[in-house]
Amino acid sequence: MTQVSITVNGKASSRDIPDTMLLSDFLREELRLTGTHIGCDTSQCGACVVHVNGKAVKSCTALAVSLDGAEVTTVEGLANGELHPMQAAFNEHHGLQCGFCTPGMIMSGIDMVNRYKAEGRTLDEAAIRHELEGNICRCTGYHNIVKAIGDAAAKM
Ligand code: FES
Ligand code: FES
Repeated sequence: MTQVSITVNGKASSRDIPDTMLLSDFLREELRLTGTHIGCDTSQCGACVVHVNGKAVKSCTALAVSLDGAEVTTVEGLANGELHPMQAAFNEHHGLQCGFCTPGMIMSGIDMVNRYKAEGRTLDEAAIRHELEGNICRCTGYHNIVKAIGDAAAKM
């Protein structure tokens, strides 16, 4: 067991955890933040994407003990009195069906918008589809997901 302290959605949390605990399990089981979903546990589906120190990470591929002192944002930490523009755009454009992939899609969407803006690149439809390579929607709702991310990009 190792003690880690990770700031999640602005709140510091210290826990004694097994060295093998994944960040996804730390969030869901230790902190009860079940908005981060686990679809495959093998780094393929993207349902578990969160932000670690401002960058999108598949939380099923990160060991929690390696993140001592890190800042993590989950989908629960996005709304600040009102929905984050990415959440609002998913709502407006019906960018979800069952919703299982949605937290990861939203976190990846925010990450790609931030990266493209920082680099002065245009996030067009082709770029959004390319960037979503690591996020799988088993309901195949990609068309509206792409529309939602494009709309949010214009508002963020
Ligand atoms: Fe992490 Fe699928 S649960 S990529
Ligand atoms: Fe069902 Fe994407 S909305 S998995």
